[in-house]
Formats: sequence, C-alpha cells, structure tokens
Amino acid sequence: MKIAVIGTGYVGLVTAAGLAEFGHRVIGADKDEDKIGRISKGVVPIYEPGLNELIAGNVRKKNLSFRSDLSAVIGEADVIFVCVGTPQRPDGSADMSQVEEVSRLIADNLDRYKLVVEKSTVPVKTSYWIKRTIGLYKKTDTDFDIASNPEFLREGSAVSDFLQPDRIIVGVETARARDLLCGIYAKFRNRVVVTNIDTAELIKHASNSFLALKISYINLIASICDKTEANVEQVAEGMGLDPRIGNRFLKAGIGYGGSCFPKDIKALVKIGEDLGVDMSLLKEADRINFDRIRVFVEKIKQALWILKDKRIAVLGLAFKPETDDIREAPSISLIRGLIGEGARLRLYDPQAMENMKAIYPAEPDRLEYCDSPYRAAEGANALVILTEWPEFSGLDLGRVREAMANPIIIDGRNVFDPAVPRRLGFEYYSIGRK
Ligand code: UDX
Repeated sequence: MKIAVIGTGYVGLVTAAGLAEFGHRVIGADKDEDKIGRISKGVVPIYEPGLNELIAGNVRKKNLSFRSDLSAVIGEADVIFVCVGTPQRPDGSADMSQVEEVSRLIADNLDRYKLVVEKSTVPVKTSYWIKRTIGLYKKTDTDFDIASNPEFLREGSAVSDFLQPDRIIVGVETARARDLLCGIYAKFRNRVVVTNIDTAELIKHASNSFLALKISYINLIASICDKTEANVEQVAEGMGLDPRIGNRFLKAGIGYGGSCFPKDIKALVKIGEDLGVDMSLLKEADRINFDRIRVFVEKIKQALWILKDKRIAVLGLAFKPETDDIREAPSISLIRGLIGEGARLRLYDPQAMENMKAIYPAEPDRLEYCDSPYRAAEGANALVILTEWPEFSGLDLGRVREAMANPIIIDGRNVFDPAVPRRLGFEYYSIGRK
C-alpha cells in the first residue's frame, strides 16, 4: 500500500514521517517545489524536536520520499492524507480553498479506488464537501471513500504525540475505509475509536475548544487570585485532584496562542452560529484570552508606572516552549502594546527570533534582538517572561540582577518560585500569586 500525504506543514510533515516510521511507504507531497527541494536535501522548514531525525531515518530506509508532482503522486497512491492548511478568514471561519484544490486534483487523478483521509483541522461537514467535489469532478466512475482522521499533535512534542497517541479517531462511512485506516494504525488497535465522519470532525474542534476553555477558566480564577491572597497554582492543584477535572491545562498565564486554539475556538463559534446555536460560552473564553494581554500590560505598569523610554527585556517569543512558532503568540500583541507605550525592548528567544524579525524588524535603541537572556537584561528597567522555556527557569538570577538597571521581574508564565528571585533582591510579580 502506498500512502500520499499532501501538504508539508506541521501536520503533514509529522504525519508523513510518522506513517513511514510505522513501516508504510509514504510520499510527502507539496506543490511548493522549493520547499520540497529543501526537505529532500534534509532541510526541514520547522523546528520540532526529533522531526529531522525521523525524516532522515525514514528517507534512508526508503520508506519516505518527498515530491512536488502532485498529480503523479495522487495517481500512484492508494491512500491520500490531506494535510493542507485551513487558515482563518476575517469572519473566524476556516478558509477551505486549499482543501477544495486538493479534492479537485484527486478527482482529476482518480484512476482506481482510493481512500481520501482528511487530517487537517476542518469544520464539521468538510468530508461531505470533499466527497461531493471529487464526485462532481472525477472523470471515471471509479469508487472512492472519504474518512476523517483528525490529528491531535502538540507542537514541541508532535513526534512523540504521533508515535504514541492517546487515541486515534477514525471517522468513516464504509467498512472498506474502516479496515484500510485501522490497518494503517494496526499497532494501536486498542486506542482506535471508530465513529461516523461528522463525529470525528467535531471531536477535533470540540477537544481544542474545551482545552482553550479550561485555560481561560483558570486565567479568570487567576484574576481573582491577583486581587486576593489566594494562590492560583494551589487552586489549580486542589481542583486538579478531582479526577473529573484533572490537573492538566490549568496553568494560568498570559493566555493561549498557537496555530490551533485561537483559530479552532473561533471556527467552532462560526460553525455553531451558522447552525443557529448560541455560542456565547466559547465567545467569552476567547474574549478572556484576548484580555490577558491588557491584564499583563497593566501588571507591568503597576511595576514601572510610565513605560515611555523604559528598557524592557522580553524573554520568550514563541507561543509555547520547544517551538519556533509565533503564530498567534501572545508576545506579538504584547510587544505591540509595549511599543505603543514607547518602551525600548530587548528581545530574546532560543528559537523564535528569526520568525519575530519578520513582524518586528530590529530598530536600533528601540527594539533589539539579543543573543542571550543576559544580553537582553543589560540595562533593563524590568524583565518580562512570556514563554516558559526551560532555559529561563535555569537562569543565573544573580547574573541577571547584575546586568539590569532595576531588578524587577514580571513573569507571565509563573516560571519561578516567588521566594527565589525575592531572596536575590528582585521585585517579582507573577500571575495569580503573591
Ligand atoms: C494544541 C492541542 O493541544 C493539540 O492537541 C492540537 O492538535 C493542536 O493544538 P499546541 O497548540 O501545539 O497544541 O499547544 P498546547 O500545548 O496545547 O498549548 C497551546 C497554548 O495554550 C499555548 O500558548 C500554551 O502556552 C497555552 N497553555 C497551555 C496555557 O496557557 N496553559 C496551560 O495549562 C496549557
């Protein structure tokens, strides 16, 4: 069986490499010839721990190759995973034009039975549209099946999420599609959940929106903690011991970012509203998340009063640790807010600085990118932490204090035990804790 994975973004690359690792013959395909050229030479366009090695190992074993001749790849494949982008449109809905384009290409090259598997995060009913599109444009009366197999990988741990999944959702409408897809994931037989296609599609959006809701909920509680003597970490610990709640995704901070939560929650709101369902619950979770930036800028102002011409060291730009991804990162709005107040910024991130330069180019004396956290701290009136990279919790705080003009830390991710920086003479502010 030959598998084609169309799209070489986060989901596509990890899916292609992961399926090859399971022993299948996989072609990763993308219409972007330059990108395919670079990946074929071993230059993986994203930073994802373990991905380079996984790709290189499977290319060497000849389980995996990369090509840009999409029509030919589709023609050769028995199973096609669609992993193209579904970016957000201004009204919050997902832009499905790339999915449609691939569907039409599949229709053009449908010479024998193929299983088309939708893996990108898509609105419920997308598979129906893929099926209808292929049905409308196919040139022969060849049979085909559609399936939904949403991907739950988290950036930073995408490879292990794919290789050791919690669950595999297989949304199908025929026994043939079920058997094919379950066969691909044969080694995880006991973790496969078979549903109809609408259910599989909704599981993905419902899961991500629920996790986003959980984060906004604990951030709301953190705001109460900020105004009282309560401690949000202990509140989360106490709540999390109830197995019905669980202790994960209860870390308060400056809000969620990334390519999934902000987009998926808006997409589900749009889907629900289009179906006439009142989606205020999720809208409010999204609004709370948006408001986290204002709350954090207020915290910085509580420490510095006037921000104009203050030097602020900003540690962490990526939307979470272990990635270079800054899509929807809280740092983007926060930097905009601080620049708006006239602050002078010194930025550092272990991986994401190149990406951020495309949004905020360096400007001498206004916005500088620094090659270490200690350089960023030089002469700073305050240091803010926006991403909980392990490198930051291991900082030599004595050295940071020496470098700074004023020893003030405003920690948006609760990286430190408050007693530690305070013992070293820092004024230390964090989220939902005194
Ligand atoms: C998420 C889902 O977890 C994954 O299943 C889905 O397939 C894609 O979206 P990802 O966006 O890579 O994965 O990162 P995740 O670890 O879920 O974090 C998302 C955001 O939430 C980050 O900005 C993170 O900082 C924030 N977050 C997470 C919190 O603020 N508090 C938490 O307790 C957990």
